[in-house]
Amino acid sequence: MDTAVVILAAGKGTRMSSNRPKVMHEIGNFPMLSHCIKAAQQIKPWKVITVLGHGRTEIMQFLQDSKKSIEFVIQEEQLGTGHAVKIATKQLSNFDGNLIVMFGDTPFISYETLIKIKAKCEQTDLVVLGFRTEESAGYGRLVTNSSELLKIVEHNDANDDELAINLCNSGVIAGNSLLISELLEDLDRNNTNNEFYLTDCVHLAKLRGLNCGFLVCEHDEALGINSRDQLSQAEKNFQTTARTQALENGVHLVAPETVFFSMDTKLGRDTVVEPNVIFGKGVTIGSECIIKAFSYLEGCQISNDCSIGPYARLRPGVDLSDGVKIGNFVEIKNSKVAEHTKINHLSYVGDARIGKNTNIGAGTVTCNYDGVTKHRTVIGEDVFIGSNTMLIAPVTVGNNSMTGSGSVITKDIPEDDLAISRSKQKNNNNGAKKLRKILRNKKNNETH
Ligand code: UD1
Ligand code: CA
Repeated sequence: MDTAVVILAAGKGTRMSSNRPKVMHEIGNFPMLSHCIKAAQQIKPWKVITVLGHGRTEIMQFLQDSKKSIEFVIQEEQLGTGHAVKIATKQLSNFDGNLIVMFGDTPFISYETLIKIKAKCEQTDLVVLGFRTEESAGYGRLVTNSSELLKIVEHNDANDDELAINLCNSGVIAGNSLLISELLEDLDRNNTNNEFYLTDCVHLAKLRGLNCGFLVCEHDEALGINSRDQLSQAEKNFQTTARTQALENGVHLVAPETVFFSMDTKLGRDTVVEPNVIFGKGVTIGSECIIKAFSYLEGCQISNDCSIGPYARLRPGVDLSDGVKIGNFVEIKNSKVAEHTKINHLSYVGDARIGKNTNIGAGTVTCNYDGVTKHRTVIGEDVFIGSNTMLIAPVTVGNNSMTGSGSVITKDIPEDDLAISRSKQKNNNNGAKKLRKILRNKKNNETH
């Protein structure tokens, strides 16, 4: 049966003390909302609708940029989770399939759990995802009778007996879309917060003699993020999971607790990651590479058998072919480097294309920016760039050519040529000896 997913993301997130909408705060370098969207899309739903309100411009921009086919509806006034879902169901009109509601501030609900929820929808009219915890403060409590869910009581409305319940509401609720729409019509605001609670649907369903079931997941999966403290806890959990996954995929992390991943980091088998490496957004690395200590990588594609670092910085738009070596204190940005080329020491390469088997000497700089415009540097195959060469872009360096160390290259270099562009050396006979004498005399005169 077809499924629609509604993700609630209209709340302000007051407890974050932030100017940003809560769901745009990042975990693994991606907004927490995109973690929900990722899981939702994995079940191949008919539709995903987000409910937006506070900070909607920023969220809409993000949805547009990420090119995911996500619809949205606007909840002008945030009158509660029930009210938010009601607005979304207007967009579903006569859709007669399953509806799964997720919260944008609960980012770790897994694809596997969503599949289980879908399956459970075949057995009961409503399904709620719960979790057990001793840290239940703030969560709604599931009042149950063995396997049957009777009602959900919000923390602020619960009596002492209900507060003692450690089975909490994750926020995920599912059931037939038309049924949920009907139940939402009957919601009221007679509660401590004066809100339309989505959770009241359970009680309303019971009044109609329907049956409500629940599934239980781990607390970590249902972690709701309302504060900065919970956000950092979520980041910690995310990193722990990402490290475990990398190890399971055959990546060797020498000191896993010191390596930081993004949601989309991909590392191939038998790749070694030394301590203190950070993977920003958009990094894909092939197999049998070594990423040496203290390197920072973002937005780059690295093929197989490459060696990066220590202390390398790869910025967005870097594409390295097999067997490339990038050494210490090298920064590369928006550049394509072909097979077995080496950039081993202290260089900046930006907006460049470099052919295979080329050697870029220590201290080489592609001078790509003239203060107004960025320019490209093209370097061919089997080239030898001498140490401390300044390549003033736009410039093209032909195959098999060489540059003399310390050259400032302002013109294209044809194939097989040697370009030297530096001032001629002149040796003054005994000049050092004479100069030292003059300087020492001067110093003595000044101190006496
Ligand atoms: C909610 C649940 C609670 C559950 C907890 C799990 C209700 C009434 N309470 O409480 O049972 O244990 O989540 O984390 O459902 N939102 C809107 N529009 C609104 C109000 C909220 O879109 O009018 C969105 C928020 O942006 C957020 C989500 O719904 O993403 C949950 O709202 P929040 O205020 O955080 O609910 P909790 O108090 O955490
Ligand atoms: Ca919440």
